Amino acid sequence: MISASILSADFSRLKEEILNVIGAGADRIHLDVMDGHFVPNLTFGPPVIRSLGEIPRPMDAHLMVSNPEAYLGAFAELGCDVITVHVEAAGHLHKLLTEIRDLGCKAGVSLNPATPAVQLEPVLPFLDEILVMTVNPGFGGQAMIPEVLDKMRKIRRMIDDGGYEIVLEVDGGIKVETIASAAEAGATRFVVGSGIFESSDYKATIAALKEKALLTRATLV
Ligand code: DX5
Ligand code: ZN
Repeated sequence: MISASILSADFSRLKEEILNVIGAGADRIHLDVMDGHFVPNLTFGPPVIRSLGEIPRPMDAHLMVSNPEAYLGAFAELGCDVITVHVEAAGHLHKLLTEIRDLGCKAGVSLNPATPAVQLEPVLPFLDEILVMTVNPGFGGQAMIPEVLDKMRKIRRMIDDGGYEIVLEVDGGIKVETIASAAEAGATRFVVGSGIFESSDYKATIAALKEKALLTRATLV
């Protein structure tokens, strides 16, 4: 599946951009929420998304904030089906994941490039999605760090060997040129920001992304 990160969209036409990218074949909308503290950048919060009115779903919230516990309810109310918190920002990760599920959402956890896979082991039974960052979070348009793909392979094995139904997603620097390497390393869901929004033809780009990913993985979830 292709999850379109609206971080690289034209914010002055945000609703139109969301409608266009879904119309062009993106499967989901990915909300990059930044607080200027956990990451060195600020984006938007629930009021901005609420102000757009009816927008297509599914939509997931990637919370790059220092105190994710304060915002879980607001993103659940917005209708996000997945809420993802960073392992580096979570003092009580198990509690956070349980709260997300109690709100009726799927619980996701994200790892920065330098955070090892082993940190996931204690919480695997409480997870619905793992979001592997292949850039340091904070900005769109950065180049993928290919060395992180070894960690992705390790996580793929952890999921498969344990028989977990956890979606493995990749975020950062995914383009038509790099998506196959992430798929080969085990990702089945791909966040793409600048790779789509900086292209002149969203539909052709999304079709090319899916084609490249499907060459390596028979199913994308
Ligand atoms: C980075 C964000 C990503 C980013 C992806 O902090 O979490 O979702 O917007 O953008 P690209 O695809 O341009 O790397
Ligand atoms: Zn993201």
